[in-house]
Amino acid sequence: MTNPIRRSVDDLGLLPAELWCELEQAVGKPAHPFRTPVFGTTNLFECSIRVVVLRQVDVAKRWLVAYSDARAQKVHQLGLCQQAHWLFYDPARRTQLRISSGTMVHVNDAIAAEHWQKLPLVSRRNYCANQPPGSDIHAPGDAIAPELKAAKVTAKQLEVGYENFAVLVSTVDQIEWLQLSDEGHQRAVFNWTAARWSGLWLVP
Ligand SMILES: Cc1cc2nc3c(=O)[nH]c(=O)nc-3n(C[C@H](O)[C@H](O)[C@H](O)COP(=O)(O)O)c2cc1C
Repeated sequence: MTNPIRRSVDDLGLLPAELWCELEQAVGKPAHPFRTPVFGTTNLFECSIRVVVLRQVDVAKRWLVAYSDARAQKVHQLGLCQQAHWLFYDPARRTQLRISSGTMVHVNDAIAAEHWQKLPLVSRRNYCANQPPGSDIHAPGDAIAPELKAAKVTAKQLEVGYENFAVLVSTVDQIEWLQLSDEGHQRAVFNWTAARWSGLWLVP
């Protein structure tokens, strides 16, 4: 296993930009481990976690973006509590990021429309289930009408999925970084306060 870069005390100020750069790169790289983080929400009594695809990173806005069916449990929970958590882990580099964010759900608005246009037809199909995600069905393929699964399906036919398409836009307010190392783990937390990242080294 390659040894991760050791950080010195002066590196604290440099880390947030490096971490954002890594997240930004993950969006365009299907094999990047940060491209499929765990996204956590709560109904105020218990937490609920699932893997999502990181679809967009906007460093200036501190945005992490994912897509969901608007009828999914995670969207329902975001309606109860906007605070959501993202968990990223890179096993090769042994780096973990735990990110806290306020998350807005965009359905049938300009942001949803922009992302829907970018979505390949094969992916639009995922939002065309005639019942909400998690509903029980008779057979595994029953969720989507057969004509929408045809190879020649058109954008017009798949337009029924648009109203179920949600863009989850998380504005990050805290990043916790953990670097595992045989020479001693390193951990730091960064809070967005007074328009800057304010960092602290932590006991790992
Ligand atoms: C690799 C992978 C990527 C996934 N990407 C997404 C995604 O981008 N958006 C999404 O809503 N679900 C995605 N899922 C499915 C979710 O993990 C989850 O099963 C689904 O969203 C229902 O979750 P919920 O009922 O808690 O909302 C993905 C699952 C896997 C295994």
